[in-house]
Amino acid sequence: MYAERVVSGMRPTGALHLGHYHGVLLNWIKLQHEYPSLFFVADWHALTTQYDDPQHIHRNAMEMVVDWLAAGLDPNQATLFIQSRVPEHAELHLLLSMMTPLGWLERVPTYKDQQEKLSSKDLSTYGFLGYPLLQAADILIYRADRVPVGEDQIPHIEFAREIARRFNHLYGREPGFEDKAKEAVKKLGGKRARLYDELRTRFQQEGDREAVEQAHALLEEIQHLSVADRERLFGYLEGTGKMILAEPDALLTEASRMPGLDGAKMSKSYGNFIALREPADSVTKKVRSMPTDPARMRRTDPGDPQKCPVWQLHLIYSDDACRAWAQEGCRSAGIGCIECKQPIIDSILKEQGPMRERARYYQEDPNLVKNILADGCEKARDLARETMRDVREALGLDYS
Ligand code: TRP
Ligand code: SF4
Repeated sequence: MYAERVVSGMRPTGALHLGHYHGVLLNWIKLQHEYPSLFFVADWHALTTQYDDPQHIHRNAMEMVVDWLAAGLDPNQATLFIQSRVPEHAELHLLLSMMTPLGWLERVPTYKDQQEKLSSKDLSTYGFLGYPLLQAADILIYRADRVPVGEDQIPHIEFAREIARRFNHLYGREPGFEDKAKEAVKKLGGKRARLYDELRTRFQQEGDREAVEQAHALLEEIQHLSVADRERLFGYLEGTGKMILAEPDALLTEASRMPGLDGAKMSKSYGNFIALREPADSVTKKVRSMPTDPARMRRTDPGDPQKCPVWQLHLIYSDDACRAWAQEGCRSAGIGCIECKQPIIDSILKEQGPMRERARYYQEDPNLVKNILADGCEKARDLARETMRDVREALGLDYS
């Protein structure tokens, strides 16, 4: 039931920059080798704030996916897809909306924050209030247990956990649940059944989370259990009723340390970014015109790297020897700022080389990206359909 699975989404913002690369993307690229992973374009989430101007979403989505691929997400490793092409997300969102207390949504901190931040827009909409619920559906539909997100998204993951718990509590209580669960325990066989009971008691009496983990591992191992029995045993363990939806955990993505050209955090809205596929001459120009320590008015004035945004980039891109060279040269006025910047320009261009090549490959034939996404959508739908079958059944809506 607890699938070892990673799910995450990104709103389609168009071309990505090196801040995205050093923050989110490198992390996704690592995860794709460690777990079955699903990454999707959250185009419906974009609509919650851009409902008045939806025309750019499609193009932004495609550009973003090219950047994902350019950065190194591998369609043979990870499932890449578009949220709105897996309409099961919407069905689950609708069904969950029936049992979601309004107060829970109103209390999610991003709700008021974003409304205030985007005050030029009317965000007193049904869709925007439901943003975290749509996100919960995105996650729960894959029964994913790991969701890589930045710190700002932690309340949304917590919200998804609460929704899963509430759903299981409301609909996981089939008639005769206790008896059926006890039958399922017997089917584990003597030794395993005893271990399961022991772990269950340890959790229920002492709140021992480790016992839960151990019991999960035990159940994962067993091949011959039916899906229904497996769900019962997971639910019985924690006393929630049959576990139909799994509670996900956030995998906190460390905030990108990537500074922008002015030393502030690299961000599209500050205009201080270098795009993932920024043309080489433009990279050179942007870095050359970066501000430096204001005390270095003339080439002969010594400077202090601590007061210079270029130094922040050395911390990302340069090895010890190069950093020592920059420190020494700056403080003694031994090097000029243009000289100091050159190794950074070289490193960025080197980092971008393979990305530019992969991007060119995908851009030359737009069908490649289309096919990757169509493929990904199919794979995602297969998983989503499985969950929806159980969800409909739990609600008595399986008219078969
Ligand atoms: N809300 C997320 C963001 O703004 C994007 C997102 C949508 C997401 N659905 C998701 C992230 C599901 C993780 C899982 O960054
Ligand atoms: Fe900044 Fe380098 Fe110039 Fe010193 S030498 S001010 S660290 S760019």
